[in-house]
Amino acid sequence: MAATQVLDDPLRFDRPAPPATVVIFGANGDLTQRKLMPALYRLAFERRLAPGFAVIGTSRTVMSDAEFRAKMRAGVEKYLEDSPFDAALWEEFERGLYYLAGDISGDALYHELGAKLAAVEAERHTGGNALFYLSTQPSYYARVAEGLGTAGLQRTEDPAAWRRIIVEKPFGHDQASARQLNASLHGVFEEPNIYRIDHYLGKETVQNILAFRFGNGIFEPLWNRRYVNHVQITAAENIGVEGRGGYYQEAGALRDMIQNHLMQVMATIAMEPPAVFDAATVRDERAKLLRSIRILKPDEVATHAVAGQYGPAQIGGERLAGFREEKGVAPDARTDTYAAVTLFIENWRWAGVPFYIRSGKRLPKRVTDIAIQFNTAPLSLFADGEPGKWPNLLVVRIQPEEGISLRFFSKRPGSGMTLRPVTMDFNYGTSFGERSPSAYETLLLDALLGDPTLYTRQDMVEASWAVVQPILDVWSGSRFEFPNYASGTWGPKESEEMLARRGHVWRIP
Ligand code: BG6
Repeated sequence: MAATQVLDDPLRFDRPAPPATVVIFGANGDLTQRKLMPALYRLAFERRLAPGFAVIGTSRTVMSDAEFRAKMRAGVEKYLEDSPFDAALWEEFERGLYYLAGDISGDALYHELGAKLAAVEAERHTGGNALFYLSTQPSYYARVAEGLGTAGLQRTEDPAAWRRIIVEKPFGHDQASARQLNASLHGVFEEPNIYRIDHYLGKETVQNILAFRFGNGIFEPLWNRRYVNHVQITAAENIGVEGRGGYYQEAGALRDMIQNHLMQVMATIAMEPPAVFDAATVRDERAKLLRSIRILKPDEVATHAVAGQYGPAQIGGERLAGFREEKGVAPDARTDTYAAVTLFIENWRWAGVPFYIRSGKRLPKRVTDIAIQFNTAPLSLFADGEPGKWPNLLVVRIQPEEGISLRFFSKRPGSGMTLRPVTMDFNYGTSFGERSPSAYETLLLDALLGDPTLYTRQDMVEASWAVVQPILDVWSGSRFEFPNYASGTWGPKESEEMLARRGHVWRIP
């Protein structure tokens, strides 16, 4: 596989995708309408897709090609972000959309799919390339892979053509099931053809961490235990579970956000510089970092991890339901809708530096960021003691207002030497003035191009499960006093206490 120079071509939009058919399992679901189809349409709009491009959607629901096209159009019109809908382009694009109804648990569908792929290939000249996208219920992932194997669709006679599979999250429910899923996929596909998606890695600002750290000379020397006091990674959402109560009740915040998205963010922030920017080397460094995270012992979980669940609240005259009142959720559900953990990385760069990670639903606002707090100046020359209260802080804002800011001290104008913290701000929107591709656009294009840099690998997934598994084990036997935070607040007080034990406080983003 050709080496990919991520930083040379950050949008990877200079490379058009080769001809291919994308086969979506679970095509009648929400993800296809909300994310996948708008991303594919947008790639078409940018002229990144080859003329020989097609989509075959499949699910149990019976639909004609025309009905499928109309449904996808409605999704694109509704969910396309920051760009116009071009009806003429859609008409051209939709000619490549096909639909096949069938039951993924039986074998017949896969044989029919083989015939359909051949027909579409003849009509659209897709060159025999196919990208299978698993967007079904997770319990069917192994079955679909097996079905594809039974029909021999994981390979082609043509040595120039490729077959790849994208697996949506969640990748397993725990460490054992993740291993089992890896084994099932490996029974059919080889690892280089398995693309495990973590859409956070496709976000522009997460990719920019690599540019920021390794494209500049001034930050890396400070990026270690000598200068960094601690790191806070926050992914807060103001929404609740939004109709996904059934799924979420079984998952919880630790599994839904921390095990995957935030541990990948942590790996990106903390990994060693790769020797070269190719997929294997970047992923090796991420994996190495994940393996260096200290695994908590069961008796450490109570002091290093906090679970929360939102209760009802009255906000601005509106009553918000508590988690246990949400549709599909049991009235005594023990699910964590908030999770916070303290992790340590056992390597020479980071030994002893706490990484605090938190994520929750129904918090005061939607914000994802990483705050790197530096040690204070070794000696304060100034009487007011301000520097001790406001250490230098570097904040990488992943969303919504993507950018980077640095807090430092400045002299307050006037006589006397009083200081005030100020910030220096870089804002993506104003600096570049152009739209960033969505995470799914970036990731789908990468998979079509055969570039797995921003996808997770078997060892990475297993390493991050190893970190959260002891916490899940202890929590499954714990009796929490849920709900323990009101909607619209920053989570349970135990989370503040967890940081206070080390003299730290959660920053309000
Ligand atoms: C998904 C989770 O993976 O990420 C959701 O399942 C969560 O619960 C979502 O809301 C957050 O993604 P983003 O891109 O909006 O931060």
